[in-house]
Amino acid sequence: MSEVSDHDFIRRFSTLLGALVALTFVLFVLAQIMGALVPKEATKKAKAAENAVAERIKPVGQLMMAGSAGDKVMNTLVPPASAGASGEQTFKATCAVCHVAGVAGAPKFGDKAAWKDRIAQGKDTLYEHALKGFQGKVGFMPAKGGNAALPDADVKAAVDYMVDAAK
Ligand code: HEC
Repeated sequence: MSEVSDHDFIRRFSTLLGALVALTFVLFVLAQIMGALVPKEATKKAKAAENAVAERIKPVGQLMMAGSAGDKVMNTLVPPASAGASGEQTFKATCAVCHVAGVAGAPKFGDKAAWKDRIAQGKDTLYEHALKGFQGKVGFMPAKGGNAALPDADVKAAVDYMVDAAK
């Protein structure tokens, strides 16, 4: 009968410990590899689905605090009343929406033919139509381009800017 000496015991125990450490390491590496094997596409799809759900269940109303995302969007739609904005600034901020592409029959910016007869009416009529709104033959021009907060001077400057570009 061979007796297990202390020395033997320590040696076997250390071997066992070593094996367990090695196993832990192998499992860790395996987990990493499996993680990397999940296709990126699947992760992306899961993320997109998550976003879609978040979009569907988001609250209907959003608090608009200065600087919040909603506030920034509003500012691009309805720029804050700014006294003395240049005609070009006002045009880009408010009028371009319709007058660049010719939305709803709006005379296009820089389109001489479309503006000729309009310019012939005289500036005062153009100002008045831009300020008060105007139902023409082709469509409806909302008062101040729909931005009631615009100072009259800015609207007139925008008209000047548009007329100058179409002369
Ligand atoms: C929602 C679209 C829209 C926006 C925004 C808009 N317009 Fe117009 N505008 C029109 C349409 C449509 C007409 C043509 C109406 C017609 O003759 O039937 C028009 C015509 C005009 C005319 C010609 C009026 C005339 O007597 O022939 C002027 C000047 C004008 N817009 C200025 C402006 C200015 C300045 C702004 C920005 C402050 C602006 N518009 C923003 C749609 C728009």
